Amino acid sequence: MVSDMRNPAGSTWVDIGVIEDLPLGTMKRVDLGRHRILVANVEGTPLAVADTCTHEDASLSMGALKGDKVKCPLHGSRFCLRSGRALDEPAQVDLESYSVRLSNGRLEVAINRNDS
Ligand code: FES
Repeated sequence: MVSDMRNPAGSTWVDIGVIEDLPLGTMKRVDLGRHRILVANVEGTPLAVADTCTHEDASLSMGALKGDKVKCPLHGSRFCLRSGRALDEPAQVDLESYSVRLSNGRLEVAINRNDS
């Protein structure tokens, strides 16, 4: 599995579980402090974005994962999991994206130290 190794300044890596809990082509929601994060395994690469749709308060982890895009379960907007970009209306605001990596078989996501 390839990992996204970006580690933004001011952030710290937080353990979110073993890779076996995120098989290829699946996604799950992880709650870390104020962060509700959607983590997906896209063709062997873990990707993470905010789980809450930017249109209304819907959990994207309840939607549909197709390739590197997730479709909102409420009104159908799609978001790119690589960038967080909103691809369809009614959502017009991009999702926050998170760096995620694989370390010794465990997934870790980068969270701003002041937010965790
Ligand atoms: S709540 Fe997601 S598109 Fe409306």
